[in-house]
Amino acid sequence: MKMTKIYSGAYQWIMYGRDENKRSNIIDTNQYLIRTANKCLLLDPGGVELFAPMLAAVLHHAPVDQITDLFASHQDPDIISSLGLWDQALPHAKLHAPALWEGFLRHFGCESIEYVGIPDNGGQIQIENAELQIIPAHYLHSSANFHIYDPKAKILMSGDVGAALEADGSPIYVDNFDAHIEKMRFFHQRWMPSNQAKMNWIQRVRKLDIEIMAPQHGRIFKGDDVKRFLDWFEALQVGTAT
Ligand SMILES: [Fe+2]
Ligand SMILES: [Fe+2]
Repeated sequence: MKMTKIYSGAYQWIMYGRDENKRSNIIDTNQYLIRTANKCLLLDPGGVELFAPMLAAVLHHAPVDQITDLFASHQDPDIISSLGLWDQALPHAKLHAPALWEGFLRHFGCESIEYVGIPDNGGQIQIENAELQIIPAHYLHSSANFHIYDPKAKILMSGDVGAALEADGSPIYVDNFDAHIEKMRFFHQRWMPSNQAKMNWIQRVRKLDIEIMAPQHGRIFKGDDVKRFLDWFEALQVGTAT
């Protein structure tokens, strides 16, 4: 599992991904950890097959009792089918996830972890000195879907928005936006169902000061590439299956 520090200030953001032991028939995913002095929030912890390598990787940065909070942007298996195993490893943790999905997500196993349901209008998560905003991203692509914005680090963790499908072991950051477009187009057209939802999200996100946009698949966007992505996504027709 490759570990990349993407922000280091009053606290840290660490990205985990490009697991060299991943089977080729499973989509590659990016997991993120916000590490403050005594606590950690793990964002989109990943699939059940990734639990063991993720736990080992996170333990490089924090002891198990400091992994206090989990966040699931939506209900997909690549996001959170590991829940039943985290539930055994972290019985005192909280899971912040869409309230709408609670009755469904509990099928992955959530006996001990406290399920903190996020209402449709979002909210905040405070992890010590990290004050995070929960940004609604409904129908992008899940019917109840959220992103995490960190105004101090200027990072937007954008879930499946900004995802790219590409070969194993690809670089962490977008280095040529125009070349990257073809790796994103099909994913967004096929998995994002609503142009109206897309426009609502773009309007909301354009008000944020974003230095890094960090999706759950593919590469991270930095600086001007964030704006390039928003412009490209705005013009793209989505929901194209017939
Ligand atoms: Fe998804
Ligand atoms: Fe995904």
